[in-house]
Amino acid sequence: MTRVVVTGGSGKLGRAVVRELLENGYEVVNLDRAPSPDPEAAARTSFVRVDLTDYGQVAEALTSVDDRYSQIDAVVHLAAIPAPGILTNSATFSNNVPSSYNVFAAAAKAGIDNVVWASSETVLGLPFADSPPPFFPVSEDYPVRPQSTYSLGKAVEEEMARHFTRWNPDLKLIGLRFSNVFDVEDYAAFPAFEQNPEGRSWNAWGYIDARDGAQAVRLALESTITGFEAFVIAAADTVMSTPSAELAARYFPEVPFTRPVEGVETLLSIDKAKRMLWFSPQHSWRDHATPAAASVPSESASTPTGDGASA
Ligand SMILES: NC(=O)c1ccc[n+]([C@@H]2O[C@H](COP(=O)([O-])OP(=O)(O)OC[C@H]3O[C@@H](n4cnc5c(N)ncnc54)[C@H](O)[C@@H]3O)[C@@H](O)[C@H]2O)c1
Repeated sequence: MTRVVVTGGSGKLGRAVVRELLENGYEVVNLDRAPSPDPEAAARTSFVRVDLTDYGQVAEALTSVDDRYSQIDAVVHLAAIPAPGILTNSATFSNNVPSSYNVFAAAAKAGIDNVVWASSETVLGLPFADSPPPFFPVSEDYPVRPQSTYSLGKAVEEEMARHFTRWNPDLKLIGLRFSNVFDVEDYAAFPAFEQNPEGRSWNAWGYIDARDGAQAVRLALESTITGFEAFVIAAADTVMSTPSAELAARYFPEVPFTRPVEGVETLLSIDKAKRMLWFSPQHSWRDHATPAAASVPSESASTPTGDGASA
């Protein structure tokens, strides 16, 4: 059985990843500063309370912790302050970037050459209203352009990953640029987005179901890729019922298309993830939202600068 450390396994995406890995036969160790609120996953997972900004704790936790475990085969690093505006910029940066350095460095030192971590769609230049993308659908094919300190941290992590893998060509460091993560319970708010399309233009109306985010993590772990690769991970559709091309023409008339998009297809290209990871989103908000929810105004599900708060 493969033993995988998941950092941030108690968080929104982490809980879905822990479930996905357990369901697929992995043994999971959750490193987080808080225990998981998911009792079922917690019962089947080792939990070690770790502050990832402390290299010593990370180095120990990636090798062995007393009689709990003695060898780690792979690392999924998700722990972070997950959006701009939750803490001050300096607090966000000084939590997230050192944590990722510590995980990358301690994994390399421990001989763990399979690391997948959460980058973010924000490196594509969110909010797009301030910095329209060079083309639609947006993809990994243009340099990162962080617009917030949170996103700058993710861009720095991607640059660190590039160099860690240059130093060690056997190392795999896959950065998954997740779109805004949603659980099924969040979907009741989606029909209301239709009343204010501009409210979700910041990320070109993208999202990712947490279960599909978890699928992408597992596929990245199982991939034989070596070196650094970044992938946009989004749902196959948008949060809207208006066709994507119509939204783009209305809110981003100057942005050209590199290929046609069909109907409500995502404007965040997942072509690379489909091609290289065999990523295939299985879930859409359309399978869950109720018509009655159409009149419920959304207060919580959007942030103007990216990566909606995950609470
Ligand atoms: N939620 C989104 O919409 C979204 C979008 C794109 C990328 N991401 C990224 O995905 C990852 C997971 O996001 P989430 O929504 O699950 O966040 P979350 O806040 O729900 O979970 C993050 C977890 O990390 C832990 N953590 C944070 N700093 C830590 C530290 N120094 N030491 C130990 N544990 C620490 C927290 O206790 C928490 O359990 C993050 O890296 C985030 O930046 C999230």
